[in-house]
Amino acid sequence: EKGTYPHYMLKEIDEQPFVMRRIIQKYQDASGALTIDKDIVNAVLEADRLYIIACGTSYHAGLVGKQLLEKWANIPVEVHIASEFSYNMPLLSKKPLFIYISQSGETADSRAVLVQTKKLGYKALTITNVPGSTLSREADYTLLLHAGPEIAVASTKAYTAQIAVLAILATVAAKAKGIALDFSLVKELGIIANVMEMLCDAKEEMEQIAREYLETTRNCFFIGRASDFYVGLEGALKLKEISYIQAEGFAGGELKHGTIALIEEGTPVVALATQEHVNLSIRGNVKEVVARGANPCIISMRGLETDEDRYVIPAVHPMLTPLVAVVPLQLIAYYAALHRGCDVDKPRNLAKSVTVE
Ligand code: M6R
Repeated sequence: EKGTYPHYMLKEIDEQPFVMRRIIQKYQDASGALTIDKDIVNAVLEADRLYIIACGTSYHAGLVGKQLLEKWANIPVEVHIASEFSYNMPLLSKKPLFIYISQSGETADSRAVLVQTKKLGYKALTITNVPGSTLSREADYTLLLHAGPEIAVASTKAYTAQIAVLAILATVAAKAKGIALDFSLVKELGIIANVMEMLCDAKEEMEQIAREYLETTRNCFFIGRASDFYVGLEGALKLKEISYIQAEGFAGGELKHGTIALIEEGTPVVALATQEHVNLSIRGNVKEVVARGANPCIISMRGLETDEDRYVIPAVHPMLTPLVAVVPLQLIAYYAALHRGCDVDKPRNLAKSVTVE
């Protein structure tokens, strides 16, 4: 039920802090440590490479998950779009483990790959929000998102839940390998839940940004580097699917290789700056687009901000910034669609679960 909310999407955006806290609880053992079924941990440790297979928003969560698993647990990971993988299978490692990420657990493109990899004899783990879904039943192992039903076609709380569960998997795998991490994920996810709450309270500000930048525009670009690039891809998908504004996410460094030709007087460019090691270079990219007339909307993180930034997010663990940076983008997309009179929860031409290949 959407209760007092005008749309499921807004309700589901607002639920994200609760979902973070519920995920921590669901994955804690009696002593409060994060834990994952030992058969799943063993399957991850026995693999020489993880292959994450997903579509749409779940694919974007997989890109963030790759970084966490590689940096924290030192396990090589490839992330593939399901529909590409099934017709263009890459050379596989000797002992792959397949990880299917799917909110609904019913996505036909992902299932087609699961059928193929099972035929080849490879084990599969499904990360899904729906217990008993097809992808869960057909895989060897399942990790649940515990996000509660997601009704809006535009995925929001499932994306952040997917990243949180992948983060838990990465830290538990690291621990099982004897890798010492210098932070507590329970604590960091708690901070993230609090910051998400603050961001959800900033709705008026986000509505104002949507008004200022997106009311009449035909297109909008999202730029970022490192994990901000992945969040930009997700921000662009959110905006295009519900507001029908042509939106694209780009790696900041790729601009000069083509995209910058599209920047005109007034073109909105949302730039994300949450990553210290690329802060100077993304700001250089903003200068490049501004010089061509772009209307920049810089969203940065506390500690990296400058006077020109439109919104500054409170600081969180640098590897987990996608969990918070996506929230303003979800809200901006919501208000842009609302102002343009679009059907926010049921955008044209789209279905909640895509059960055809
Ligand atoms: O249920 P799934 O996670 O497998 O769905 C994958 C995509 O169809 C889905 O994320 C889609 O991109 C959303 N509409 C994005 O908001």
